[in-house]
Amino acid sequence: MKLLNDFIGWVDDRFPLIETWKYHLSEYYAPKNFNFWYFFGSLSLLVLVIQIVSGIFLTMSYKPDALFAFASVEYIMRDVQSGWLLRYIHSTGASFFFIVVYLHMFRGMMYGSYRKPRELLWIIGVVIYLALMAEAFMGYLLPWGQMSFWGAQVIVNLFSSVPFIGEDLSVLIRGDYVISDATLNRFFALHVAAIPLVLVGIVFVHLVALHAVGSNNPDGIEIKKNKDANGIPLDGIPFHPYYTVKDIVAVVAFLMIFCAVVFFAPDMGGYFIEANNFIPADPMKTPAHIAPVWYFTPYYAILRAVPPMFGSQFPGVVAMGIGAIAVVFLPWLDRGKVKSIRYRGPIYKAFLAAFVISFLGLGYLGMMPVTPTYTLLSQVLSVVYFAFFILMPWYTKIDKCKPEPDRVTFK
Ligand code: HEM
Repeated sequence: MKLLNDFIGWVDDRFPLIETWKYHLSEYYAPKNFNFWYFFGSLSLLVLVIQIVSGIFLTMSYKPDALFAFASVEYIMRDVQSGWLLRYIHSTGASFFFIVVYLHMFRGMMYGSYRKPRELLWIIGVVIYLALMAEAFMGYLLPWGQMSFWGAQVIVNLFSSVPFIGEDLSVLIRGDYVISDATLNRFFALHVAAIPLVLVGIVFVHLVALHAVGSNNPDGIEIKKNKDANGIPLDGIPFHPYYTVKDIVAVVAFLMIFCAVVFFAPDMGGYFIEANNFIPADPMKTPAHIAPVWYFTPYYAILRAVPPMFGSQFPGVVAMGIGAIAVVFLPWLDRGKVKSIRYRGPIYKAFLAAFVISFLGLGYLGMMPVTPTYTLLSQVLSVVYFAFFILMPWYTKIDKCKPEPDRVTFK
């Protein structure tokens, strides 16, 4: 023990080890009233680590070459020791990443965590979300199955609808006139090196920003307003050991669900890995029905809901893009007197419920083949989705809020 303490002392004289530990863990005062919604930040961190570690091992046997990519994935599945496990951890991890991040974002929306002083923290979060979408999209091309190929073909083609520069832009992305070996190589480089580096970097900045302003909580009140004589928030408790222990409970529960999927339903009935992706990519044979993976389908439904104008899909592409980044404007759209849903009035709650229904509904419709009824439904739900944002300054202002308590509450 003395040896360990001496070693820590030696390091601490040369590096702010104890100071960092105290600032971010043992003396970081988090609100006492965190509920289960506060698990999803640390679970996102856990999934990030799972993806990076399983990804490194997959890269050891994967071949980023249009001639060998599909076969190398089959080789991983059949011949590499525990290769099937690595692959299913990684493919399941991709979907679980979006599940926990969507729940994490929704928590922020419910409790007004994007409001002052956390606007920058929120913006950084949206940047993480965009990087995550790029990471997932590029990763999906790598198995070089039918869905990898045709999904990428459809999405990259959307860029060619941009006026004037569209054609050049899509050639720049692909490195060719069609999805090809050149595309596979660059997507591989971006997926295994560039974007993960960016992701880790911005997640770090996300946590630095969080610890500078402090956590929000389910009551949406600032615990820094009530401090004791030593300057410690009366409603705060040290993150370590209280929340580290609590988070371990979430990690265990999460891993149980995660393992159940990995071992018993890794393709999740076609939602996590589509059936068509077990067929090698064939540029001469377009699948009858092309749809992205479930986490992109709400935006895909918005794209298909907007009719082409002068033969161009560009308006739909713009709507899809704005739909994906719309949450970034929340800090400036919300005029409510209170932050948390607990003290909001019925109008806000109704709009938030409509938003959730529209997002889930669009997600479902984005997976379905196009029919006139589905297109009409997608149009209605797209209007509801955007109305949540556009009308927010109005309905949050007129909504009758309840008075906020001075101190955090427990239920
Ligand atoms: C890789 C993805 C992400 C990771 C690893 C991550 C990590 C974390 C962690 C560990 C926390 C503290 C624990 C908690 O409050 O749950 C946190 C808080 C927060 N995150 Fe994230 N996050 C990610 C993505 C996002 C995204 C996409 C957004 C929003 C667009 C976001 C917005 C926030 C906000 C507003 C808070 C403070 C919440 C509060 O105090 O009520 N994060 N994040």
